[in-house]
Amino acid sequence: PAVEYGLDAPFEIEYHNSIPSTNDRARALAAEGAEDDVVLADEQTGGRGRLDRAWSSPTGGVWLSVVCRPALAPSRVSLLTVAASAAACGAVRETGIDARIKWPNDLLVPDPDAARGGRKLAGLLTEMEGEAGKVSWVVLGLGLNANVAPDDLPPDATSLLGERDGDPVDRRVLTQRFLERFDALRTDPDAARDAWREHAATLGQRVRVTLPSETIVGDAVDVTDVGALVVDTGSERRVVHAGDCEHLR
Ligand code: BTN
Repeated sequence: PAVEYGLDAPFEIEYHNSIPSTNDRARALAAEGAEDDVVLADEQTGGRGRLDRAWSSPTGGVWLSVVCRPALAPSRVSLLTVAASAAACGAVRETGIDARIKWPNDLLVPDPDAARGGRKLAGLLTEMEGEAGKVSWVVLGLGLNANVAPDDLPPDATSLLGERDGDPVDRRVLTQRFLERFDALRTDPDAARDAWREHAATLGQRVRVTLPSETIVGDAVDVTDVGALVVDTGSERRVVHAGDCEHLR
């Protein structure tokens, strides 16, 4: 396939020119017992985002999913998402673009003219299976708008191609650097959290976090060692493990 980069990473890589969803393929591999496999595609025809949204995945992006079998309790799986978003942010910053992490795991490029103070460059979709308090597998899907033409992007999104005024990035290097960084951070929660904090756009912001049962508004003051967001509402500190977060200023 065109996307067959010849990566030298501590993962077994399966390449596809076009596939419905690398997460779906990775889930099937995980169910067969795969570990540390990566599915990488040039294009997805049925890319999935968080909260059952569709994820636009034209050719030129980095669409990949990693199968992990971590020795983690389900409540700590978000550590992997912290590691992956920090790794993606670090790899992107090496291309010269000032990306920041929006909790829990979006990459944004700050833009004062954008509706929410930034444009979305990448997102992560973490899926897992387990029983009896033990994780059997985790699939981490990364969608990164690398060399996606600005005209092919959804509203409020951006790509590295657009941010770099039409100068494409080397997707092989970008993917390789992401996988190396992720491999180093996934077994080192302190380093992952430090790297996350260093590039966090959310800390210090006024936020609105929408949960299934309530909405919390307050100041985002910290992230816990499992990647939960600590929100100071003025009357109490709430620890939020998952939810949709908006930056209010
Ligand atoms: C989000 O921000 O909503 C998460 C987007 C995750 C998209 C990636 S692209 C590779 C992998 N395969 C999918 O179908 N989704 C993830």
